[in-house]
Amino acid sequence: MTHQVVALGIDDIMALRVRVLRQGTPTTHCNYPEDNYPDVVHLGIVDSGDVIATSTWFAKPCPERDGVASMQLKGMAVDTSRQIGGLGRAIIDAGITHARSHGAQLVWARARDSALDFYLKCGFDIAGEGFIDEPTGMPHHIVVRPV
Ligand SMILES: CC(C)(COP(=O)(O)OP(=O)(O)OC[C@H]1O[C@@H](n2cnc3c(N)ncnc32)[C@H](O)[C@@H]1OP(=O)(O)O)[C@@H](O)C(=O)NCCC(=O)NCCS
Repeated sequence: MTHQVVALGIDDIMALRVRVLRQGTPTTHCNYPEDNYPDVVHLGIVDSGDVIATSTWFAKPCPERDGVASMQLKGMAVDTSRQIGGLGRAIIDAGITHARSHGAQLVWARARDSALDFYLKCGFDIAGEGFIDEPTGMPHHIVVRPV
């Protein structure tokens, strides 16, 4: 099954972001400073009017890859009832295409350890030591993928 990935507005994706990424965490909002970057793009998949998958992409240097033209993705979330159905991978593929067309040589993310295998299956590698992310209190690693 193919999933059409489209560019959406911040208001379209926020409810899904909060629902999926803030469940069981001490933080209730899911706004990022990068949401205001001029080049920010919120990718998403919509089914019957509902946003069921999303992630947000913008140019930002990777702390583990100095001097490489890089794009970060953040806010990677698939509706709980639709996970492990290929939607996350479809969003990553579309993001890589977007990053390539904007001259990025690398894409990267701060991946929660519970999702590391997803990123590895999507062609990312782990870079650097693990750390605890403040808003979630969860263990994370940086993951990188050449474009
Ligand atoms: C992580 C997440 C974005 C992945 O999206 P998804 O649509 O469920 O994943 P896909 O179906 O595209 O999976 C692609 C591959 O990764 C695997 N995978 C996905 N999530 C995984 C996980 N959490 N742990 C282990 N493997 C996972 C799938 O089994 C699939 O493997 P395959 O290629 O062998 O079939 C989604 O499950 C999610 O929103 N999880 C909760 C929030 C979260 O952790 N977000 C990431 C924050 S960094």
